[in-house]
Amino acid sequence: MSFNIAIDGPAGAGKSTVAKMAAEKLGFVYVDTGAMYRTIALYMLDSHIDVDDGKALVDALGKIEIGIRYEDGVQRMLLNGADVSGRIRTKEVSAQASVTAVKPQVRAKLLDLQRNLAKKEDVIMDGRDIGTRILPDAGLKIFLTASSAERARRRFDELREKGEKCDYEEIRKEIEERDYRDMHREEAPLKQADDAVFLDTSDISAEEAADRIVSLAKERMER
Ligand code: DC
Repeated sequence: MSFNIAIDGPAGAGKSTVAKMAAEKLGFVYVDTGAMYRTIALYMLDSHIDVDDGKALVDALGKIEIGIRYEDGVQRMLLNGADVSGRIRTKEVSAQASVTAVKPQVRAKLLDLQRNLAKKEDVIMDGRDIGTRILPDAGLKIFLTASSAERARRRFDELREKGEKCDYEEIRKEIEERDYRDMHREEAPLKQADDAVFLDTSDISAEEAADRIVSLAKERMER
């Protein structure tokens, strides 16, 4: 049987960086579920679908085939066969993903895909409802977070490094709005599972957070 690690937490807490590092140290497969919601969101944007129109949403979901491929351990997303890994990282897709992810039909489409991946291999899966809904029996659950000020600062530095123009206060506001939507939606809201380990990365490095997860995982696997 596979040993799975669920990592949930708000946007920008460092989940993907930390999960990737821990996956490498443990030899696990890293599964980024946010990328799946982003892939669906990209289709909705490209096809000008109003996701609040239930019929249009269901019709569109029927036309979407999501594929996942690993290249040197890096997850690539395929939308109806085309690699969209780069295109799903824009601000527009982030905003659309947060809106699309509240739809139960969208979450239902991704549930089996995520569970099947975890059945086959030892995975570290990150998202919002992995410990609470997708993998309730995960061997280790982590709730990874950081203050919104710190998350905004990291995002600001990242964008500046890429040479993009940005405003700290605006980024912080966007992060807080996204948190609110993710935490207050009816369908699978972001919340810490009762048996999850709380890990605040505001004052520790990604490496330190990954090491903590690795040692917790090793302890649990030995049990
Ligand atoms: O982690 P991310 O920023 O790539 O996620 C994109 C959006 O998808 C975000 O608004 C939250 C949502 N999401 C979700 O609802 N459930 C998940 N398991 C992963 C992401």
